[in-house]
Amino acid sequence: MIVKLEQLNKIAKDLMKELEGNTFVLLNGDLGAGKTTFTKQLIKELGVTENVTSPSFNILNQYKTSNYVINHMDAYRLKKTDEIDMFLETFEGAINIIEWPNNLGIDFSKYGKVIEINILVIDEYNRDFKIKK
Ligand SMILES: Nc1ncnc2c1ncn2[C@@H]1O[C@H](COP(=O)(O)OP(=O)(O)O)[C@@H](O)[C@H]1O
Ligand SMILES: [Mg+2]
Repeated sequence: MIVKLEQLNKIAKDLMKELEGNTFVLLNGDLGAGKTTFTKQLIKELGVTENVTSPSFNILNQYKTSNYVINHMDAYRLKKTDEIDMFLETFEGAINIIEWPNNLGIDFSKYGKVIEINILVIDEYNRDFKIKK
């Protein structure tokens, strides 16, 4: 579906109903597609009030609410190394929102519910969101 910036909160609200512990939201799309922008909306919908920043440099940011542990990971710079076992432990029982998930080389479906989102740039303001649950 074609989505503008101001419609992201509606998509995030709808998606939020599907989120529970042990869920992976996998975000695919080029640099600048809108993965981080959408993640910020989603984390806000989940009740996080603190500022959400891109985890590009520290790879993983974690947020806690009274209901959820939320991990936001940007695997752009990650190589398939043995660190991945450590991340799997962190993912357990949490809502895990992951940019560039393919860089991890993990079959996420073995570890929880998977929601896959592909974002394609249409033009400056419009993105095509494909959501596979
Ligand atoms: N419909 C839209 N959905 C998401 N981002 C959009 C949209 N329209 C414009 N943008 C802009 O595109 C940029 C996306 O950047 P970002 O979320 O950091 O991308 P990524 O994390 O995929 O590299 C932001 O500047 C955002 O404001
Ligand atoms: Mg990003």
